[in-house]
Parts: sequence; C-alpha cells; structure tokens
Amino acid sequence: MTRKVSYITTPLYYVNAKPHIGHAYTNVVCDTFARFWRLSGQDVFFLTGTDEHGTKIEKIAREQGQTPEKFVEEMVPHFKALWAKLDIRYDFFIRTTDAAHKRTVDRVLQKLVESGDIYEKEYSGWYCMPCESFWTELQLVEGKCPDCRREVQRLQEKNYFFKLNQYQDWLLQKIQADKAFIQPEMRRNEILGFLRQPLEDLCITRPKARLGWGIPFAPNPEFVVYVWFDALINYVSAVGYLQDAVQFSMHWPADLHVVGKDILRQHAVYWPIMLKACGLEQPKTILAHGWWTMGGDKVSKSRGNSVDPWLLSQKYGVDAFRYFLLHEVTLGMDGAFSEGLFRERYTTALANDLGNLWHRYASMLAKYFEGLVPETNESALAAFELVTRGRGLLPKVSQAMAAYDPRLALDLIWEVLVRGNQFVEEQKPWVLAKDPAKTGDLKLAIAALGDALAHVAVILRPFLPHTAETMLVRLGLTAPPNLANLAEFERALLKPGTRVERGDPLFPKLEDEVEEKV
Ligand code: MSP
Repeated sequence: MTRKVSYITTPLYYVNAKPHIGHAYTNVVCDTFARFWRLSGQDVFFLTGTDEHGTKIEKIAREQGQTPEKFVEEMVPHFKALWAKLDIRYDFFIRTTDAAHKRTVDRVLQKLVESGDIYEKEYSGWYCMPCESFWTELQLVEGKCPDCRREVQRLQEKNYFFKLNQYQDWLLQKIQADKAFIQPEMRRNEILGFLRQPLEDLCITRPKARLGWGIPFAPNPEFVVYVWFDALINYVSAVGYLQDAVQFSMHWPADLHVVGKDILRQHAVYWPIMLKACGLEQPKTILAHGWWTMGGDKVSKSRGNSVDPWLLSQKYGVDAFRYFLLHEVTLGMDGAFSEGLFRERYTTALANDLGNLWHRYASMLAKYFEGLVPETNESALAAFELVTRGRGLLPKVSQAMAAYDPRLALDLIWEVLVRGNQFVEEQKPWVLAKDPAKTGDLKLAIAALGDALAHVAVILRPFLPHTAETMLVRLGLTAPPNLANLAEFERALLKPGTRVERGDPLFPKLEDEVEEKV
C-alpha cells in the first residue's frame, strides 16, 4: 500500500509582470509548511507554477511587440529564479502551457460536456476585459466591475457555460458541515454569504475571434477555454488526473491550497464544484491569506507600488526576508510593508535576539572551555527552566503549524531566545568564571544555553533554512534529528566534547543609511 503524499499548492502566478512581495509571500508560506511537514516525516508534494493564458498576457505581449508564446517563455525564468533565490523547494513547477496540462483540460472538458455539466447558450452581459469576467446588471457597482471598479462593456455572444447553480445547495452544506474546508473563519463566512445569493452558471469559453491566447475548446474550435477554468485544473493535472491513476491516487485530494483573499471565490466556489462534477474528492483545506499593502494600497505592479523581493533578499539576506514575511502578519490578515519596519525587525529579532544570543554562547564557550561542549550532569541541566522551554518547544510549534499559524510558531521560538538572553544576564557567567569553586555552575549555565540553542536550530529549519543550517553545522550537528524524532535525541543533542565554531555574526548589524526604496 503506497502512502498518501501530503499535497500543498500555491496559486499559479500570472506572468504579465515579474513577481512581487505578494507572490513571494505565498511561496514562502507554502515552502515553510512543506519543509515542516517533510521534517516531521511526511512525504510531501509542493506544487507551484505559472498561469500563462488569457487576455492579460496576450495584451501585454502584443504591447511589447511579441507573440504571447515568446513573451511567456521570457517571463517564466523570473519566477523560477526568484524561487531559487528564496530557497523555495517545490517538487514540481507547472505551466498552463505544458502539453500534459492542456491534455488534461481537454479530457476534463470532454467529461463535463458528456455529463451535461457544460452547455451552450446565447448570452448577453457586462464584460470586464481586465478581469475577463461577465457580470449581470445587478452585480455591477455604480455601473462598473464589482471586482476592479473598471469600465465594463455590453457583450452579446454565444458561449459555453458550466452548471454552477445546480451544485449550490450541495456546496453550501459542505462548507457549513466542514469547518476546516475554508479558512480562516472570516473568509469562510464571506463565502457562505456569497452562496446565499443565487449562483449564476459560469461562462467558461471565450470566442477565438476576441481572444486567441488560450487552450482551444475541443468541442467547438471557435472558442478557447476561459483562463480560470484552465488554470484551476492545474491542481489535478499536475498529479496525473486522467493520465496516471496510481500517481493521482497517491496525491489527491490536496491537503492545502494556499491562495490570496482576492482569488478565494474561484477556489472556494468554482473549484469545489468542478471537482464535484468530475466525481472527485474535495481538498482538505483552502486557506486564504491577506494582502501586503504599501501606503494603504494593495502592493501590485499595476498600482505602481511594487516591492521587489529579489532586491530585499539581496540586501538583507533571504532568511531575514522570510522571517519578516512569516512573522509580520498573522496568516489571513493584511500587512503593511515598509523598509523601515523591515530594518527594525531585522535589528530587534534577528541581529539582537537570535544573533546576539548565538554570539554570546559561542564566545563564552570559546573563552571558558576552548570551544568544547562541557560535560554536565543531565538532571541538573534539565532542572533549568530555559532547558525545559527549549526541549518543550516542538509540540507547541507543531500545534501552531497545524493551526496554520507560522507567526505564532516563530513567537514561540523567540520566547526561548528572549529567555536565553535574560538567562545570560541572570547567570552572569563572567562572574562565575572568576571563582574556581563555581566551575560546575559555569559549565551548567553554558551547557543550558547550548541546549536551548540546539533545539531552536533544529526547529527553525523550515522557517529560516540557511540560518538554522549554519547554526547546526557550527554546533557540530551535521546529521541533526528531524522533527519526528527530536524527542529521542533530547539528551544527546549536544555531545560533551563537541567543538562549536563561533563563526561570523548570523545577522550582521545594519549600517545606518538613508532609507532606499526597494
Ligand atoms: N493566475 C491567478 C491564480 C490562478 S490559481 C489557479 C492569479 N494570479 S496573480 O498573479 O494575479 O495572483 C497570484 C496570487 O498572488 C494571488 O493569491 C494573490 O492574492 C496574490 N497576491 C497578489 N498581490 C498580492 C499582495 N499585494 N499581497 C499578497 N498577495 C497578493 O490570481
């Protein structure tokens, strides 16, 4: 019997512009969960990729005098390079222009046409070109698109529709019955509210005459497939749906789809109904995060307030960037970005709480014990509150991660670091060192610090992979326990006699500088 893989996905990013902080955020969050699960002993499949069809892309390619094919080829490497830079360890990168994906889209459509879930009708409605969405008169807000507030145009055309309406009651009940399905609670309520209005069937084609850049709609070649219908299918096409039954059964249903709040409706209404119509199981959780804002506005290329994740991580280090993203907001809420705030967090949490504690520990170990972990009495060591805190960290952090709260997880880890710094002040090892009768106490104090730092280093791996790795190597823990078997190693995590290297500062002090825009 093969084991079910834990399956996590990001949205597929439009390639109309280079990725910004909002895109980096989702990928860092998913990467942290994926790493946490892997280190906890699970088999994980982490999927990300790019959404390459539709008007947005066609328009920008034409504006740049390029074909959409050539344009997307040139854009995709920007995404892959950023994910490499940010240490995003995905298992597969799907592109909606991949032949295998297009084949699956064809097969899904064929299936849904055969089952009668897709039908043809003459339709007239208000169309928002940038959002590629049809709206009814009632849905318009002051005559404009309810999503982006831009002008809409009246269109009358024949199109193909997907029967959302007949599944409305089923979906409402599913969401009501399954609290874990849409998170956080506030977003679940929004979707429930939306589902209490009549649900219109979804127009899933666009006439080729109006939009050429899309997957051809096989049942009628005068049409292409609506970009959202094409893109959502990626979550199953990437794992072999209608192509490889064994692979598919190992992966589906997905455990976690992470999306931004602006695309929750597509994921929490269209997607579950598409799956239901195909006779497939539902994903376990769809988790919506908030927006990064700057100057009160959503960060976005089109609003001209883009924050470049590449420059930020180049300037401050990848882990500093990951820390800021994961810690600054509770998952689900909006967060304001400013470089000043970033620098403040860097100094307080990274350079001071973590970097300084490391430096104090490794320097004192070098000074008093020639850099070698001292031999101590285990029960005396275990009596220190700092040590029990460090050793008791994992279950608490695991609980926070199970509740999709990486911010809380980091807060819990930081409690140990803050406590560690207080501990140094209380113990005053430099005073103990002056009195030969206190050598045992000195050994214990330094060993307690080392014990706490070693636990922090192991648990920090999914969040700040580089820093954790550096600490582990310096601590001589070249084959560290994973999170599943950490408890077994508890006593032996740092073996007496092991040489610990102090190394360069983990987070060098920031130079004073005039704030630059990134
Ligand atoms: N292509 C669709 C998704 C298809 S998934 C089958 C799309 N792409 S997008 O590039 O416009 O957005 C991708 C993700 O980035 C969304 O989850 C969106 O919420 C997120 N973000 C875009 N700007 C953002 C911020 N300023 N802050 C946080 N995330 C935001 O939608």
